[in-house]
Amino acid sequence: MTMAPKQTTLLLAVAALAALATCASAGYTQSPPRRSPPRMAGPQVYGPPMTNSWLKMPANGRFRVMQVADVHFQNGANTTCQDILPEQLPCSDLNSTALLTALIKKEKPNLVVFTGDNIVYGGNKDIVKSLAALTQPLNDAGIPYMVTFGNHDCEAEDCRPKLIEGDMQQPYSLTVSGPKELHGKGTYAYTVMGADGKPTFALYIFDGGAYLSSEFPGSYDFIHPDQVQWYNETSMALEKMAGRKVPAVAFTHIPLPEYDSAFVCNLPADATNITTGTMADFGMKSKSGMGKVLANNCSFGSTLGVFHEGVYSANVNGGLFSAMAMRGDVKMFNVGHDHVNDFCTPFYGIQLCYGGGFGYHAYGKAGWPRRARTIDLYGNGTVHTYKTLDSWGAYAEIDHQSF
Ligand SMILES: *[C@@H]1O[C@H](CO)[C@@H](O)[C@H](O)[C@H]1NC(C)=O
Ligand SMILES: *[C@@H]1O[C@H](CO)[C@@H](O)[C@H](O)[C@H]1NC(C)=O
Ligand SMILES: *[C@@H]1O[C@H](CO)[C@@H](O)[C@H](O)[C@H]1NC(C)=O
Ligand SMILES: *[C@@H]1O[C@H](CO)[C@@H](O)[C@H](O)[C@H]1NC(C)=O
Ligand SMILES: *[C@@H]1O[C@H](CO)[C@@H](O)[C@H](O)[C@H]1NC(C)=O
Ligand SMILES: *[C@@H]1O[C@H](CO)[C@@H](O)[C@H](O)[C@H]1NC(C)=O
Repeated sequence: MTMAPKQTTLLLAVAALAALATCASAGYTQSPPRRSPPRMAGPQVYGPPMTNSWLKMPANGRFRVMQVADVHFQNGANTTCQDILPEQLPCSDLNSTALLTALIKKEKPNLVVFTGDNIVYGGNKDIVKSLAALTQPLNDAGIPYMVTFGNHDCEAEDCRPKLIEGDMQQPYSLTVSGPKELHGKGTYAYTVMGADGKPTFALYIFDGGAYLSSEFPGSYDFIHPDQVQWYNETSMALEKMAGRKVPAVAFTHIPLPEYDSAFVCNLPADATNITTGTMADFGMKSKSGMGKVLANNCSFGSTLGVFHEGVYSANVNGGLFSAMAMRGDVKMFNVGHDHVNDFCTPFYGIQLCYGGGFGYHAYGKAGWPRRARTIDLYGNGTVHTYKTLDSWGAYAEIDHQSF
């Protein structure tokens, strides 16, 4: 049996404190989990991402991440499902649990990232217990996982601190609340270390918030400029430490506004009939879309996956995409939020991807299987991704692609 990260924390805490003192100039220590990025001189100056003994490139040279988006877990057995076929009854949250258990077994991920709307606040008897029930299969299987929140995890109160603290009690949770001066709770970064002790990949997790009422009425929240600056500085500190740019994948809940621009840019040149098929909602939501295509000659390649609904991003932009594109380390950005979109589309060097809805209590599309995205990180910097479907027990893999 392997040791849970939490136990490792206790054992390594003293050693790590000593190591921190001696290795601080190198910028890297084999640290225990749950340590916020070390603060360096001055406010808003951050060190490289955290490390954790669980986040190591396996001997086969492939670190497997599974993204689980929009489970909308609630009270378990008594919670009903949405958008399923009559022959899929009976159905409850326990079907989401069964899917998670099955995919853990099939995919054998090294890490699971829950990208928000993990639980639904409204009608939830106990949100902390609900999140714990959702993550139970990982704690049972001994697989580390990370959580960030969406707009449904805390609808009516700011329960992020309570949920984060609850999750951090779990033995296999690598969730941290992140630097306390940053907007939100749950913005943090880790590196996946190679066998040689050098970072092979970085993982960035952003709390993209929920709703904004006073500042920008009628908009979802967005990743704020202080979080963008944190990313910029964390990424630069990692480059300095590693002596090279370290490739990265990033996760949050709500898509960036650039998802829409990218999708439009990458429409085929002959896409004139966008009011039908998988682009129906696109046609309704983004009437300016074709105008943009005509004005900008901006194809970056093709979209893989489906667009069954609009991109429900914030109305305003905190600048994360442009910061990432200028840094040039993030290869893939992963979101949930729009359950029946599951595409990846390239944009200025970054693949903008959706996980596709996972949970049965969440809205979906009857007959369109719930799914999870697998993201394989290779030691040579290549990312390989595909989706696995809850296709009536078959767990079919679709849309394999590498970049
Ligand atoms: C489920 O609902 C039944 C009937 O309302 C109730 O007796 C039971 O306690 C509920 N169970 C849970 C786990 O909420
Ligand atoms: C949920 O699980 C039950 C019991 O295994 C099964 O009969 C039902 O078909 C499942 N529904 C879905 C949507 O997976
Ligand atoms: C667009 O698609 C609809 C539905 O498939 C079809 O009826 C219509 O003829 C198409 N229009 C054009 C211009 O191809
Ligand atoms: C669009 O860009 C492509 C590739 O750079 C180029 O071949 C093509 O001529 C451009 N089209 C227009 C209309 O500018
Ligand atoms: C990132 O940091 C560099 C160096 O300090 C700076 O030039 C750049 O403007 C920063 N970018 C953002 C988006 O903060
Ligand atoms: C990286 O490694 C993978 C797995 O061995 C391989 O499929 C891929 O072609 C390699 N990519 C590069 C750029 O060498």
